[in-house]
Amino acid sequence: MCGIVGYVGDKNAQDFLVSGLKRLEYRGYDSAGIVTLDASGKPTLVKTKGKIIDLEEKLAQNKRDDKIGIGHTRWATHGEPSETNAHPHQVGDIFLVHNGIIENYKELKKALSKYDFKSETDSEVLAALIDSFYEGGKYPLVNAVVQALKLTKGTYGIAVISTKNPEEVVVARAGSPLVIGVGHGETLIASDASALLGHTKQAIYLNDGEVATITKNSVEIKTLNAEPVSAKVEEIETSLAAIQKDGYDHFLLKEIMEQPESLKETLRGRVKIKDGMVMLGGPGLSESELRKIKHLVIVGCGTAYNAGLLASYYIEQFAPEVTVEVVIASEYRYRQAYIPKDSVALIVSQSGETADTLACLREIKKQGIKTIGIVNAIGSTIAREVDGGTYVHVGPEISVASTKAFTSQAVAMIMFGLTIAQAKGVRTNILRPFVNEISKLPEKIREVLDEFNEPVKKLAENYKDYDHAIYLGRDTAYPTAMEGALKLKEISYIDANAYAFGELKHGPLALVDDRFFEFALVPEGELYDKAVSNVQEVLARGGHVIVVTNSKEFDLPVENVIKIKSDIELLAPILMNLIAQLFAYYTALAKGLDVDQPRNLAKSVTVE
Ligand code: F6R
Repeated sequence: MCGIVGYVGDKNAQDFLVSGLKRLEYRGYDSAGIVTLDASGKPTLVKTKGKIIDLEEKLAQNKRDDKIGIGHTRWATHGEPSETNAHPHQVGDIFLVHNGIIENYKELKKALSKYDFKSETDSEVLAALIDSFYEGGKYPLVNAVVQALKLTKGTYGIAVISTKNPEEVVVARAGSPLVIGVGHGETLIASDASALLGHTKQAIYLNDGEVATITKNSVEIKTLNAEPVSAKVEEIETSLAAIQKDGYDHFLLKEIMEQPESLKETLRGRVKIKDGMVMLGGPGLSESELRKIKHLVIVGCGTAYNAGLLASYYIEQFAPEVTVEVVIASEYRYRQAYIPKDSVALIVSQSGETADTLACLREIKKQGIKTIGIVNAIGSTIAREVDGGTYVHVGPEISVASTKAFTSQAVAMIMFGLTIAQAKGVRTNILRPFVNEISKLPEKIREVLDEFNEPVKKLAENYKDYDHAIYLGRDTAYPTAMEGALKLKEISYIDANAYAFGELKHGPLALVDDRFFEFALVPEGELYDKAVSNVQEVLARGGHVIVVTNSKEFDLPVENVIKIKSDIELLAPILMNLIAQLFAYYTALAKGLDVDQPRNLAKSVTVE
């Protein structure tokens, strides 16, 4: 993986390929390359380790006015980041770019011993396999691609061109997204629709098991079994403005600051304050289906998992006789877990493309369990494969670290829980306080961000040189602490782990010394006094404690305290998470790191 672009038309292909790859930069990558063909099929291949800016430097000496080409940003899976391992890969007449993993590449490589492989990649093996069926242009390219893919195990989104036919691109997908942009006298290809913005709004989303032959004026789609597929052209909903920084230095800060609006979009038309009720149409479950739910499985990775865990603590508070199990997708897909028949699974994913989450969705569907997507990316694979769903509508999330999606995912799942509770006849006086707070949340988020942006910036300066951090919370503040720790470690590279306060004495307390600081979330409520005692225990051992609380009473002599003044009580941890987001951002900034594209990470993890 990571980003694919392609072009065939009347304009300069290099221009689109480079600008398209730039749009996909946010997904994280370590090398890049493009190839174009002139009218006679003569290729110009330029690859580099590093960033698109390095690629542009090399391209300055290789400017061409070719009208067809493919390009790629690579996030290393097989073989280190290097120019040789970068895509496009050339084998014989074939050039290929590939996202995904070819699982049986070693076996295939043995059978293709006549080829002199240059890279360590699985993708080059696929290029050779296609070339072996192409036989120098004896057969149509699409036939060679199909024959090769039939022997391939694994996941792929690919774009292939041949020097023998500089007028067509063949693309195919199985588990790795591909979008075809339909323009006037040009057809564009990308692994993410954002690369197409500004060129066309008309897109065809390829499905798994489909292969398309693309020319400047045509798109012909078939299945691998040669059945024709009629292409469905859809409108891309994202606007160009939504994928720009809008005056902010980083997408991350923009996305943190956007949360009042992005959450409003999640709530739009879904909250009926007067009646103390929520209305979620998307899941498509009848009242009687909702009443029968006894078990919820929430599936996600990373931040999406944390959002699920947070929601589960709330759902248990108001949805009677419903057990909630929150699972990490990469683990769950291989567990032999029994899911009772009266269950519903919530499949949580910002990108809607995460390979492990998608695999769980497919496994769960096989068991006949209803699946509901809590997804952001419209038209993504998970959104299309679930039985029903609630889009969170936060708009494009460009920064690798997820922020606005977390807040909206958690709230959307709490709303799903409220929908179940309503159907089960839980009294409005129990549900109304949650509904009221949900409706007030966007405004309260705005207040907290406005008040604490500057103070947190200063605070982060003082902690940037630590190597370790412990995040602490209990009850709803515990998943919030987990999310805070994830944010800090992924963008500031400070080793941060979260513990439930109650677990401290069972081991982690031994860590407390001058190399660590502690970031403690202490909301008011039933467990407030216990959390305060836990903070005291850390202080007694010389801890360097920052406390985030909404209690006026908090008066322990910690190093720093952030007091949120708000009438939000039940959902206070969601406000506290904003402080953790800002803290992670400003710590990374103070360390001079690449906040939007942290090292080693990719935005959308489409491989296992
Ligand atoms: C962390 C982060 C990741 C994602 C995870 C799942 O900031 O962004 O942990 O949350 O990779 O991604 P989606 O939600 O796209 O399935």
